[in-house]
Amino acid sequence: MVSNPSLHKRVGVIGLGMHVPKKVLTNHDLAKIVDTNDEWIMTRTGIKERRIAEPGTTTSDLAYEAAREALHQAHLNPKDLDLLIIATTTPDMLFPSAACLVQRRLGAKSATCFDLSAACSGSIFAMITAQQYLMTGRYRNALVVGAEVISSFIDWTDRSTCVLFGDGAGACVMAPVERGGILATDMGCDGQAADMLYMPGGGSKHPPSHSSVDQRLHFLKMNGTELFKLAVRRMGESAKRVLEQAGISRQHVECFIPHQANTRIIEAVAKWADLPLEKVYMNLQRYGNTSAASNLIALYEVIQEGRIKRGDHIVMVAFGAGLTWGSILLQW
Ligand code: COA
Repeated sequence: MVSNPSLHKRVGVIGLGMHVPKKVLTNHDLAKIVDTNDEWIMTRTGIKERRIAEPGTTTSDLAYEAAREALHQAHLNPKDLDLLIIATTTPDMLFPSAACLVQRRLGAKSATCFDLSAACSGSIFAMITAQQYLMTGRYRNALVVGAEVISSFIDWTDRSTCVLFGDGAGACVMAPVERGGILATDMGCDGQAADMLYMPGGGSKHPPSHSSVDQRLHFLKMNGTELFKLAVRRMGESAKRVLEQAGISRQHVECFIPHQANTRIIEAVAKWADLPLEKVYMNLQRYGNTSAASNLIALYEVIQEGRIKRGDHIVMVAFGAGLTWGSILLQW
């Protein structure tokens, strides 16, 4: 469905949802699988446990649950949904999109649906994409979901990566608003660093074969140390840019929601950008890095916990494979 092509200045979030699998995988559980321990994982990452989808549970399953809750909160009938974007690096299959699969289950027959690939920055990129369609009046409302079953692409014999990630989904419904909403956005990419975090197998470069499986190409590969440094710089710069764009000082931001990758990265970003740590939200100790789902799950919890009141400013900032990074300054 297409609305009247009138320009809207402000686009905001009018409903939120989240869903994580029930199964908890603790650091102690991981120590039984690979040569690691709770102390190493806690001190290097801050992660205590993560959620893992049961075999057969897909990204669109998690996305559907989060989407339903967000639509319910927004009092929006799926039949009236105009646009559905799913940010994911771990779709159910290469095609059709996870968004089309979720559309089918929701019965959102009028919605235009597509997936967006920006790794851990996915939900920020998808929210900014939806904002553009809503500002031009092309669509009246949009559902953005960040969802991952990243456990399916983790090498459970590689202790340097398998301890970091978890499964989950976060969702938001966006629409034009009278007050508040998105005040500033920033997005950036650096393809020169594409091989710092990637999954080589399964695409046209290395289609599935016995050899690709033997070489473990269908698992995530990462240069953790270099990514760490880049994540700090890129997220710090991006957060600063949205504040400058909107002419708002750090003191007037009530909550920072960084991508939940690593406590040390988040603390370094906060220090670099001179952000007070008590305003920085962290839930990675419970979920690990849920990639594209991370920022929306955190936004959901921030609102559920009553940390934010109407009119407060929130900065969401993310960083991921690509490389990609982005920020949103949102007035609640
Ligand atoms: N348990 C125990 N030891 C481990 C381990 C684990 N799970 N993983 C790695 N190690 C070992 C390494 O083998 C290495 O041993 P060595 O010195 O004998 O070779 C040692 O710990 C130090 O490894 P190093 O990689 O230098 O640690 P680090 O302090 O850089 O921390 C990360 C590693 C991965 C936690 C950190 O680099 C990081 O968080 N990077 C960013 C990753 C990320 O967030 N990616 C997603 C971005 S969206």
